[in-house]
Amino acid sequence: MNSIIVAVDGPVASGKGTLGRRLAERFGFAYLDTGGLYRAVALRMLRGKHALDDVGILVAQAKALEPSDLADPALRDEKTGEAASIVAPVPELRAALLEYQREFASAPPYDAPGAVLDGRDIGTVVCPNASVKLFVTASAEARAQRRFAELTAKGEDVELATVLEDLAKRDARDSGRASSPLVPAQDAHLLDTTKMDIEAAFQAAEAIVAASMKSS
Ligand code: DC
Repeated sequence: MNSIIVAVDGPVASGKGTLGRRLAERFGFAYLDTGGLYRAVALRMLRGKHALDDVGILVAQAKALEPSDLADPALRDEKTGEAASIVAPVPELRAALLEYQREFASAPPYDAPGAVLDGRDIGTVVCPNASVKLFVTASAEARAQRRFAELTAKGEDVELATVLEDLAKRDARDSGRASSPLVPAQDAHLLDTTKMDIEAAFQAAEAIVAASMKSS
């Protein structure tokens, strides 16, 4: 039986990670946060003090990734996210990470009947034949507010204006790059969460996935 693939794409702090994780739980699917792969490579580059534009080392680090890399708490640090957005446009790195993502989607771990992958290019490049595609958005201001709340809850001393500025920079990098830019797939369901709390957003996403599963 073919695995049911749910692609969840969207910009930084749109809520796609939380939605992806909850959808996976709800439907008993495996979950892959593909941003974590880019973050893990970036973290290895930072720790090894390698230049972020050294393509050979980037590819080597991608090939050397291990499960423990994906569990490192430093993945969530702002500076790791910033470095990830700098390395993510490199086509050779994207190619090196592609096979793992496709394999996860088509043969999910623990024999799960399906997989939820969240990222930027899941519906367009990684799994263009996904069973259902969600493109999660929210206004830049709403996303900055959420990120600001998250960071201050962690005890970080940040200004809302700086968070908004960083977010705009990251959006521009993710959307403006030549290689797999962040764009909704033509057949993606758009979910604008600007005015929704996470519960409302989850219910909307769940309804879309359930309806697609019924009709397929
Ligand atoms: O979703 P995130 O913030 O963890 O992603 C970190 C960076 O990785 C972000 O700048 C975009 C990039 N990324 C990507 O290019 N393609 C993906 N499928 C997932 C993330």
